[in-house]
Amino acid sequence: MPDSNALVILTGAGISAESGLETFRSEDGLWAQHRIEDVCTPQALARDPALVHRFYDMRRAALDRVEPNPAHEALARLEAHWPGELLLVTQNVDDLHERGGSRNLLHMHGALNSALCAACDHRLPWTGPLPPAAACPTCGAPALRPDIVFFGEMPYQMARIEAALARADLFVSIGTSGAVYPAAGFVRMAQAYGARTLELNLEPSEGSAWFDESRLGPASQLVPAWVGEMLAS
Ligand code: APR
Repeated sequence: MPDSNALVILTGAGISAESGLETFRSEDGLWAQHRIEDVCTPQALARDPALVHRFYDMRRAALDRVEPNPAHEALARLEAHWPGELLLVTQNVDDLHERGGSRNLLHMHGALNSALCAACDHRLPWTGPLPPAAACPTCGAPALRPDIVFFGEMPYQMARIEAALARADLFVSIGTSGAVYPAAGFVRMAQAYGARTLELNLEPSEGSAWFDESRLGPASQLVPAWVGEMLAS
């Protein structure tokens, strides 16, 4: 892809699967074990904050037991050596892209190692359990919550993402089912702006038909191979 200068890369839970983190929609995935409406909606947080905080405490604790895999590391290598723009947009709330070396990265669905004050919008790094009604260090309100975008809430930094898609020569989607909007619509937005589109996924996603090219297989093999092609071009 010799003329791909500006890249936008979208990742989903599939890129972290081989690190040992569960995806959402596989038969034994997170949404098979927990109802979304119990742990990932503003209503759930209001109704049973202890359950919601425990769910994210469990997922935050899991981060200590996993490592980045060759797919995360390959994307960091691409960022370090790519001559043009590269924006990595992840739907994931884990920290494996950062630990794999990526820097120009944004978490559109939030991050497990961050807490958000529901009263003043202050964000702060957070490791370990986050109890309900923890006091915000900025405003003092007992209103710290997981810094996670729940269903029904607006994903973060959408204007920045759309501006990057408008400039993209190539949009690559890795390890996502294409089940959740607005991320699932990025491929069509990128195409409308004239970008070429590539999907790297274990199985065809819901949006596969929209991609110019779709490669099927595990991310730990597909992503290093693709990055090798890009850096050789
Ligand atoms: N390599 C590549 N792809 C993989 C691998 C792997 N080793 N393992 C699984 N996949 C693919 C699956 O085939 C599936 O298409 O990753 C995708 C995971 O899909 P989901 O479980 O739906 O996860 P994701 O697409 O990230 O979900 C999007 O939904 O629940 C919300 O906010 C949550 O960010 C999440 C969003």
